[in-house]
Amino acid sequence: MSALKDVADLNEAEARDEHARLARELGKHDKAYYQDDAPKISDAAYDSLRQRIEAIEARFPQLVDLFSPTQRVGAAPSGKFGEITHAVPMLSLGNAFNDEDVEDFVARIRRFLGLAEADDVVITAEPKIDGLSASLRYENGQLVSGATRGDGATGEDVTRNLLTLKDIPHALPGKNWPRVVEVRGEVYMSHEDFAALNERQVEQGKAEYKNPRNAAAGSLRQIDPAITAQRPLRFFAYAWGEVSEPLAQSQYAAVHRFDEWGFQTNSYMKQCGSVAEILAVYRDIERQRATLGYDIDGVVYKLDRLDWQERLGFVSRAPRWAIAHKFPAEQATTILEGIDIQVGRTGSLTPVARLKPVTVGGVVVSNVTLHNEDEILRKDVRVGDTVVVQRAGDVIPQIVRVADPERSDRAAPFDFPHNCPVCGSHAVREHDEKTGKLDAVRRCTGGMICDAQLSRSLEHFVSRKAFDIEGFGTKQVEAFHAEGLVREPSEIFTLRERNKSGVIQPPLQSREGWGETSVSNLFNAIDERRSISLARVLNALGIRHIGEGTAQLLARTYGSWALFFDAARQLDDETTRAEMLAIDGIGETALEALDQYFSETHNVEALERLVAQLTIEDVAQVAAESPVAGKTVVFTGTLERMTRDEAKAKAQALGAKVSGSVSKKTDYLVAGPGAGSKAKKAADLGVETLTEDDWFKLIGES
Ligand code: IVH
Repeated sequence: MSALKDVADLNEAEARDEHARLARELGKHDKAYYQDDAPKISDAAYDSLRQRIEAIEARFPQLVDLFSPTQRVGAAPSGKFGEITHAVPMLSLGNAFNDEDVEDFVARIRRFLGLAEADDVVITAEPKIDGLSASLRYENGQLVSGATRGDGATGEDVTRNLLTLKDIPHALPGKNWPRVVEVRGEVYMSHEDFAALNERQVEQGKAEYKNPRNAAAGSLRQIDPAITAQRPLRFFAYAWGEVSEPLAQSQYAAVHRFDEWGFQTNSYMKQCGSVAEILAVYRDIERQRATLGYDIDGVVYKLDRLDWQERLGFVSRAPRWAIAHKFPAEQATTILEGIDIQVGRTGSLTPVARLKPVTVGGVVVSNVTLHNEDEILRKDVRVGDTVVVQRAGDVIPQIVRVADPERSDRAAPFDFPHNCPVCGSHAVREHDEKTGKLDAVRRCTGGMICDAQLSRSLEHFVSRKAFDIEGFGTKQVEAFHAEGLVREPSEIFTLRERNKSGVIQPPLQSREGWGETSVSNLFNAIDERRSISLARVLNALGIRHIGEGTAQLLARTYGSWALFFDAARQLDDETTRAEMLAIDGIGETALEALDQYFSETHNVEALERLVAQLTIEDVAQVAAESPVAGKTVVFTGTLERMTRDEAKAKAQALGAKVSGSVSKKTDYLVAGPGAGSKAKKAADLGVETLTEDDWFKLIGES
């Protein structure tokens, strides 16, 4: 568990690393929630992961890509049902977490629409039902299909299941409906029905559902609609998709048409004329939350005028005209029994609060990071205090505050160690040279003599984005290290030999938990990783500020271990420094970290021992099959999506030769705006000229 930096303090490489990690994590949680109906974290924890990735993307917009979780809603359909492509995408909602966010929401609407102060803005407020959304398509008054949200674009065809819900009319009564109308809303289960269902489940020896939302999702997504029919599912209508003619002029009136057609709509929906009124409704709904009889997790606000909704439109996955005001994360109080210090891979000392185990938001919490010593001071947490714990942050729960700061018999303030608790070396707080500010983190200066740093480094070395050795993960490497069998990365690769020659005693295969086959599998898996890409090796070294993204940049630029190693050892040389700094994405901080690492003789020696065990693939080798391999490329004009150095490095990494002038041998001229004589020469010689976008398309990165 490591302390999270403020997004404002992240450099690009760190942001890229964390973004990738968060994207993976959110992807996993989306699947668990939307496809498996078995979330692993609370909604509040999920929201804070999402807030964090959004904050990172706001600061580093270059990290937003199609796969970013912020660009999709939910998870793709699971494949259990047929698919239905929504005629109008089913979007999600942005979140507000406090009063100020709500004020901002209304102010944004006013600004966007250019409204004067005197113009009235009416907003509806209604409970946010904690179920799963569904879209019901009626043609000529008949229900023709029903779908789950899926990933927002395509959902699952659960028509037959939805037809079993008594709240869902099979046909719209009367004649007063559009020829096509998609009614959208939430499928949910009441508390009472949920308890009864779980009782039945237990009687039948089946697993209980964790909460009403999962029960609703699990019940709706039964392959056999007869089972769904036995489940007491309900439906609130609150929105719509495709409509062949407008439903009304306001949100409020549109929803009331659903009433006329026999749908249940939420009676707590109110029209509000000011932020104060909105917040009053929020507090009123929050007060009644426990007695509603079904789960809600916030209040949804929607701009009432539909013509204004239309003008505001959508941004990425959510409408600008609506927002979900979430209820605060769940809190609990418990006793802080102690503060442990963990030593990270880069020597960071992280204080971790040991708590008397307590359940918060359905999860037992016993350890909570306190981030760093300033945080301990700021919150003035002391051993023995009663603390308020909240499961909101980062999947990582937080201590919000001390519940009883006035208590007279409190322990003395925590004395943060100035020596590493593992190796005893001095632990210091460095000064940032540029800002002159003291680093928030105290670090052990022991480097590789520190067992904790070594062990964490080895864990990083074998991690998924690094050497990724099958069957050799954190647990194994920790055990091997503790026993002294692997003290540095190179020793992973000499295990087989040492085991065979009898240096390792008793031999691995005769140890408990191991056998001939598992040992041989492990050695084979290790051997498979002897041949490895340069980027993975660079990432695996775990040098500060050199994460996965930076490792890739370096690998692409230098192309081979030999060239990189040469450069890294000569970072006191002006030209070498300048060359490295010319790489877009490598700044002073990364360069300093590299310089420091490669100035240490013991690091260089350990590296040489490692490299002797490996075949590090050159980047060009990897790129042999790229569409531009072996081609000669010239770049000219102003490039807008990449710097000239980056363009050159990229082309070279893909196996192309980059030349400074156009000749008969040139295969492609990539010309940005302002291209002059080279463009003319290329045209004269019949050399193919590409725009920057064409180039990206050609290399498959458009
Ligand atoms: S309106 C375009 N209203 O919340 C906006 N959504 O986090 C459509 N939800 O996907 C959604 N109660 O599943 C809306 N009263 C309500 C809601 C509600 C629950 C869910 C819905 C939506 C999700 C967004």
